[in-house]
Amino acid sequence: MTDVAFVLNGTDVTLTEISPTRTLLDFLREDRGLTGTKEGCNEGDCGACTVMVSDERGARALNACLLFLPQLNGKAVRTVEALSAPDGTLHPVQQAMIDHHGSQCGFCTPGIVMTLATAHLNGMRDHDDQLAGNLCRCTGYAPILRAAEAAAVQPVPDWLHHGRLTAPEVARGDAAQPTSADDLADWYQANPEATLVAGATDVGLWVTKGLQDLSPLCFLGRCADLQQITLGDDGLRIGAGVTIAALRKEVSVSHSDFSKFLRRFASEQIRAAATIGGNIANGSPIGDTPPALIAMGARLHLRQGPARRDMALEDFFLDYRKQDRRPGEFIEAVTIPATTPDLACYKLSKRFDQDISAVCGCFNITLEGSIVKSASIAFGGLAGVPKRARTVEGALVGRPFTPETVHDALPAFAVDFSPLSDMRASARYRLEAAGAMLVRHVHERSGTPVSVLDLEAGA
Ligand SMILES: Cc1cc2nc3c(=O)[nH]c(=O)nc-3n(C[C@H](O)[C@H](O)[C@H](O)COP(=O)(O)OP(=O)(O)OC[C@H]3O[C@@H](n4cnc5c(N)ncnc54)[C@H](O)[C@@H]3O)c2cc1C
Ligand code: FES
Ligand code: FES
Repeated sequence: MTDVAFVLNGTDVTLTEISPTRTLLDFLREDRGLTGTKEGCNEGDCGACTVMVSDERGARALNACLLFLPQLNGKAVRTVEALSAPDGTLHPVQQAMIDHHGSQCGFCTPGIVMTLATAHLNGMRDHDDQLAGNLCRCTGYAPILRAAEAAAVQPVPDWLHHGRLTAPEVARGDAAQPTSADDLADWYQANPEATLVAGATDVGLWVTKGLQDLSPLCFLGRCADLQQITLGDDGLRIGAGVTIAALRKEVSVSHSDFSKFLRRFASEQIRAAATIGGNIANGSPIGDTPPALIAMGARLHLRQGPARRDMALEDFFLDYRKQDRRPGEFIEAVTIPATTPDLACYKLSKRFDQDISAVCGCFNITLEGSIVKSASIAFGGLAGVPKRARTVEGALVGRPFTPETVHDALPAFAVDFSPLSDMRASARYRLEAAGAMLVRHVHERSGTPVSVLDLEAGA
């Protein structure tokens, strides 16, 4: 049981002795009667439960179904019920949705409106990206996009600037909420059986779908020192608590291909919550950041109490869902080179947006003239862990980087990987797709456009 304080639609809420795994969605609908926030999938896919969450770092659209109440401590939540002005004047996004017929059955509409209102507040005009986490089965999206464009030229309404953005924090109870990496290190060493919760985009599902009891719990969201990105002599150090959204923005120039690739990670709502530490620690063979980080030569920084150790990230993944992490040890940060001009990342999934990879291939191939000087190639979806393609790398190094060399290297994929067949892809498809990514990369390096997003009619 735990205590939590936050601002809800401008009013202070203090809750005592609540379950630390009660979701904001259940609280809003069941305890407060705020049923404008809808429950669709209850697993982060549909966006019907989107709310606006603000703190000193700004406003974000988040899925209420994947937010445990302690994650809101000290923050402000706005639901669709409080989007219009107190006198009933509609928010420009709401008005535009009506004017442009953006709603039919209306079930998805509150979530869409909250996503668009948050984007409007933040000045974001990439409406396709912003809406990738909101499913609508009725409108076909064109009217929604027209509404987004119409609202974008309207000013942010005054009433959204009013009201407090933070509440006094409360952190009593048996769910730990450390405020620094040092606090976390002490507490976790003493409670190694605990479940760490960062963005809860994985852990949330263990509760909403797996119905698991995860106690004791430790929430990492208040450890501000885990949310820093710093440039030092050994490269760019990314704190474990940095969200995918913050990382994508921060590396947009220094690691532009990585940043572009992170646009394919889930949706706006998930990226705003999900952390890089969670993506590494969950050990999924189809997590998107590990192959990219491994290809970059990332180093992982682990901490257990006062003791710290570093390792190459690829050595962290021992076997399917088995990582080299000791009891009471957590990920503090990951370091990547300051820039990675040669990195190219390709994600293959059934849908472009909001889908888990079937195969994800990341290539960091350095040339000297036309000759391959070094090659670091890592894949997700081809083995029980994210894994280097060492035989393929060996078949490339020292040879000219040409389609002929790549053709000769293709059989090496079957030496490096024996993938499984599952609902996402067959083993044969995965192997062929991995080889095709290398073919794609060699063409891309020679200047041929390979992305559907870069192709133009007649090109
Ligand atoms: C709809 C949806 C779409 C998704 N799409 C993608 C996608 O496209 N690509 C992708 O890769 N993933 C995707 N995911 C999975 C998920 O978003 C990521 O794995 C995410 O990075 C997890 O981060 P988190 O902060 O939410 O972790 P949490 O859920 O909080 O934690 C995940 C695991 O990491 C542990 N953990 C967290 N932080 C630390 C730490 N510092 N040290 C040690 N252990 C820690 C937790 O105990 C837990 O075991 C998706 C999830 C959903 C729900
Ligand atoms: S209910 Fe579908 S994303 Fe939350
Ligand atoms: S209007 Fe019905 S699902 Fe979107």
